Amino acid sequence: MCGIVGGVGNINLREYLLTGLKKLEYRGYDSAGIAYYESSEVIVQKVSGRVSSLEAVVSENIAPTVGIAHTRWATHGQPNALNAHPHQSNQKLFTIVHNGVIENFRPLRQQLTVRGYQFHTETDTEVIANLLERLFLRSGSVIEALAQTMEALEGSFACAIIFAQEPNRLYFMKKASPLLLGVAKGAGLLASDPVPMVDYTSRFVDLEDGDYGYIEADDLKIYHDRVLVKPVFATRNVDLFKSDLEGYPHYMIKEIEEIPSVVKRLVDNYYDGSEFLFNRNMIKALRSAKKIHFLACGTSYYASKMGAKYFRPLGKSVLVSIASEWAYDPYDVSDDTIFILMSQSGETADLIRCQKIINASGGITIAATNTKGSTIERKATYSLLLYAGLEVAVASTKSYVAQVCFLALLCAALKNENAVVAEIDRVAEALHEVISRKEEIHDLAKQVTKNKDAFFVGRGYDFLASMEGALKLKEVAYLHAEAYPGGELKHGPIALIEPGTLVVGLVSDPEVASSIRNNFEELRARKAKLLIFSLHKVSSPEDAFIAPDVKPYLAPNVLVVVAQLFAYYVALEKGLPIDKPRNLAKSVTVE
Ligand code: G6P
Repeated sequence: MCGIVGGVGNINLREYLLTGLKKLEYRGYDSAGIAYYESSEVIVQKVSGRVSSLEAVVSENIAPTVGIAHTRWATHGQPNALNAHPHQSNQKLFTIVHNGVIENFRPLRQQLTVRGYQFHTETDTEVIANLLERLFLRSGSVIEALAQTMEALEGSFACAIIFAQEPNRLYFMKKASPLLLGVAKGAGLLASDPVPMVDYTSRFVDLEDGDYGYIEADDLKIYHDRVLVKPVFATRNVDLFKSDLEGYPHYMIKEIEEIPSVVKRLVDNYYDGSEFLFNRNMIKALRSAKKIHFLACGTSYYASKMGAKYFRPLGKSVLVSIASEWAYDPYDVSDDTIFILMSQSGETADLIRCQKIINASGGITIAATNTKGSTIERKATYSLLLYAGLEVAVASTKSYVAQVCFLALLCAALKNENAVVAEIDRVAEALHEVISRKEEIHDLAKQVTKNKDAFFVGRGYDFLASMEGALKLKEVAYLHAEAYPGGELKHGPIALIEPGTLVVGLVSDPEVASSIRNNFEELRARKAKLLIFSLHKVSSPEDAFIAPDVKPYLAPNVLVVVAQLFAYYVALEKGLPIDKPRNLAKSVTVE
């Protein structure tokens, strides 16, 4: 994963690089580093841990001409200061930050070692720096060295590079990892996403795979296959990329509390009061498709499972696959299949790989993402936005609800069922109430801070909600949490129930209520610590949290939010780093 940021020109580069890096920490936070050119040399500073530790060691008085910075999610080499980026070539001609994975770094390292290059770290990035140096020393041209390096590298890379002999220029190259340029007044900028740059510019250039070149304070050059290409400038609404805690202790709770307004905004964007506002050609294509195949990862995968349940009654064959697995066995790419790619970030590497496979075969993709201008959004046949607003906390919360409600709206548009809109509006109202009673959920969380494991159980829609509920508890509260359909308990998992084992039961649907209640009794008989989250219509007085009623097919939107709040408060009671849980990253840009 990792986040990179770079700049050249007349802005306060220290401020831009360090603040920008903090905004990119959602991409990884194992270590951080910076390099900048000042007083005839390139200075490199690195720390293990967060950007705040880096900030403490970078002098306030620096005035560099060019600088690069990196926040790391470790792939090759331990997350210590040595392996932290930037990395330098042996003669210190090239200093580089890199996001991606170089698959052939071992043979390249071997070849360079034979030629006398020394390696000081365990990273694949040091190979890029030394390869660039060697190829520059042979060709005498940085641009040619970049072209040859790109030909030699296998894998993914977005790199920002300082060349020690050109202190007013910042080089870059990109393949399969995100990178875009920003054009500011008197400065050239680049970063893994627009967020670090939005305080300086609204003018961006999205780079394509295979692009390389350089930026200067008032110039930029992009090459592709040794040909100079014309940059395509795009203006973005920078307000969409700005975010502030606004007095909240964590982004996770802030983003959960935003959910009712996210639902309303979504409805406003896809329904004008009498008609659905989806692209007509897309609706036509969906109606005539025989198969719908969802591809996604993480939370987006669980939201897609809901989508599959919505789409099946349309008489289509509907499949949901985890993107990283489907990419090894890419079946179903045919004229009568539409792929729906669900992704909050629009940058998840496994999903991008799937999209490339589908695009290469001429298949149709619908991308539902939360990020305008993201790779998946740009490369889809039809692109739709989730309008959830910037999500900063690593654990996805508001995006899940936006995705599920989006899929309910899309399905309603296919069936011409306008009544669905009022049912979704009701979800927003129910969520207002749930959020206003969040302290009840906090009290429940206090009861389980010593538990190490948890089971989530439900049937039908509630089982799908259970999967997302268990994921939240894993991600932010570090509990080993697994979801099971109520009916499966007796086929194995019940052997793990001991007195005090935490089981979270979800029940919303009258159709399955009596069966799941039987399962709850079986668990109670074995002295599990049972916390039941229910909807009013199917509630029982002993339930731990009873939420207002919504239609059963929309209930996961309510019960998942209860589970999100539960996970948040368990993590809070345990004193965990809620917005940046260990080992995770928000945007998973390596396969
Ligand atoms: C990471 C994030 C999850 C997210 C998943 C898929 O694992 O931590 O919150 O659900 O990636 O991301 P996407 O951006 O494709 O929805």
